[in-house]
Amino acid sequence: MERKEIQKVYNNKINELKKHDEAYFEHDSPIISDKDYDSIKQEILDLEKKYSYLKNKNSPSRKVGYEPSSKFKKVEHDTPMLSLANGFSKENIEDFLKKIKNFLNINDSEKIVFSAEPKIDGISASLKYIDGIFKLGLSRGDGKIGEDITNNLKTIEDIPKRINMPNLPKILDVRGEVYISKSDFKKIKKNFANPRNAAGGSLRQKDYNETKKIPLKFVAYGFGVVEPKNFDKQSEYLKLLKKWGFNTNPLNKLVSTIEDIEKNHIEIERQRSSIDYDLDGLVYKVDDLKLQNRLGFVSNSPRWAIAHKFSAEKGFSIIKNIEVQVGRTGALTPVAKIEPVNIGGVVVSNATLHNEDEINRKDIRIGDTVCIQRAGDVIPQVLYVDKEKRNKNAKKFNFPNKCPSCGSKTVKEFNYNTKKKDAVTRCPDLKFNCKEILREKLKHFVSKDALNIDGFGKKIIQNFWDLNMIKYPADIFNLNFNKISSLDGWGSLSASNLEKAIKKSKKISLDKLIFSIGIRHIGQENAKTLAKYFINIKKFEELYSKEKRKKILNYLLELDGIGETQVNSLETFFSNSNNLNTVSNLSKKLNVTDFKTSKSGIFYGKTIMFTGGLSKMSRAEAKAFVEKEGGKILGTASKKLDYLVVGDSKPTTKKVEKAKQLNIKILDENSWYGLLNR
Ligand code: IVH
Repeated sequence: MERKEIQKVYNNKINELKKHDEAYFEHDSPIISDKDYDSIKQEILDLEKKYSYLKNKNSPSRKVGYEPSSKFKKVEHDTPMLSLANGFSKENIEDFLKKIKNFLNINDSEKIVFSAEPKIDGISASLKYIDGIFKLGLSRGDGKIGEDITNNLKTIEDIPKRINMPNLPKILDVRGEVYISKSDFKKIKKNFANPRNAAGGSLRQKDYNETKKIPLKFVAYGFGVVEPKNFDKQSEYLKLLKKWGFNTNPLNKLVSTIEDIEKNHIEIERQRSSIDYDLDGLVYKVDDLKLQNRLGFVSNSPRWAIAHKFSAEKGFSIIKNIEVQVGRTGALTPVAKIEPVNIGGVVVSNATLHNEDEINRKDIRIGDTVCIQRAGDVIPQVLYVDKEKRNKNAKKFNFPNKCPSCGSKTVKEFNYNTKKKDAVTRCPDLKFNCKEILREKLKHFVSKDALNIDGFGKKIIQNFWDLNMIKYPADIFNLNFNKISSLDGWGSLSASNLEKAIKKSKKISLDKLIFSIGIRHIGQENAKTLAKYFINIKKFEELYSKEKRKKILNYLLELDGIGETQVNSLETFFSNSNNLNTVSNLSKKLNVTDFKTSKSGIFYGKTIMFTGGLSKMSRAEAKAFVEKEGGKILGTASKKLDYLVVGDSKPTTKKVEKAKQLNIKILDENSWYGLLNR
């Protein structure tokens, strides 16, 4: 072949690859299999190797992967789109009921009514109507910020574009699920693994004319902002939705006792295979919106709802290897690497083995044939070993007694809550320099609930880590984007997008920063409690000094939610110079904004302590109320205390006496309710 001809063949192959990239990344609809795609790519690379004069800026040797255009505008949700806690068994649901009753401080015999709704496995969306006109449609995104997919949603027949009804709220944000029925999925199956992927892919087509071709459906079940709100119950709202022209699930039902709940769950699970859409469980929501309001939220999910999952799907595979991974808290997790197997539309190649005890109890060995269970978004796990298929020579798995990353002798900690030794084996990482832990901390640092750097996922952290480009969080802000743009899989556009996303993440509130650092036992809730105390980064930095720290930690012990475990963890963390450097280098790179407390709350700037039980609400609800209203809860009476609330049931005389001595304002139960109703 002549040089010109070779160049032509080469260019054609590159153009072909580009077409497939577009089909895959822009339209979510690959035309060829991954294998065929890889072979075209390999042919291009082989040609380049053979003829060094071949050049093309779109060659996979320069630019592996595709740089998708940022397709949709990002828009903040007026009220966040939350997720749900999961329950898998009757016990989990009983627990959920008990917690609700405890929180509301109501008798076990009293009934709470729930709206039980089938949980369709699709993609959630929010539809905003102003004066009855569909104005804005958003995807869930990270729950706080979604993507503007209005035009795509408008192609769905089930979604009313205009609602002409008397008494329709002026502002109405309807939330629900976009999905594809099983029968429709069969017709378009070739491009997608399962109906959920198909719905997601179709919804995010750049060209809404492509979305139009897909038979998407919509079922409504929730709401964001509604003004004025003309309903008091979830069940009333569901009825209104129907009146307004939305589809609601005909299997929605009101239930109340655990027996009702179980019966309904069993009944719907029995019907599951004959229902024409994928269901992965039921959702239970407290029907009374006033109670929902009192119950409120924990982090990202409501206290008033839970998803009751159906039994998971199962499959069999062979364990090729057992790898022990080290997590960011030092926990050693054994992971079974299995022969890839398709379980309910998802290819599974890893399954967690939890911990050493679990491996021993189930006697899991390399080479074993095992039953794998996959339930929705939960990590697949090994259920049991098919011992008949075991090879005679299979050896018991020896759990490492040294950290596979840094070689430290591993430990099992004593758990003060359970009064037992933990099941989890840990790398003690006494010097805070275990490599795998550092790397996992970086993954946590960029994750959604932490810095939330758009497009900076675990894979990229791994990639940059392998190339020795990052070790500590601050390194992320010193990356060389010129260098990145020339890396395999990168181009100038993707590098500049990352640069922008990193820049954007520099502005961060104090609570997020505290959470991002990844101090053991300091999760999102505790990070908020700490941030509420420190308010600004300057005050937080006082933790660096040994003397100041001692005082601060003493005070923190008084805060609700912060106990010995958290205080000890903070002491260990901040007494290490490696950590001090890590945090101070990091905060120099960031613009840390003060923690915002609601300044209008009736308890703003006040500290409150409780003693004795209240009859109309639980302590947890009372505390949640104080915090919502900008106050701080203390656990001991000191001069800093503003109010002591004395409940009727068994208050501690000593606390009341001390408060009197210190001239602290004392409120009895009635005056407390008076404050609430102000
Ligand atoms: S309520 C605060 N109701 O399940 C309540 N969700 O794990 C948030 N889903 O993102 C959701 N059917 O995609 C709710 N009847 C239903 C649902 C439902 C399906 C999905 C939805 C949500 C996810 C939560």
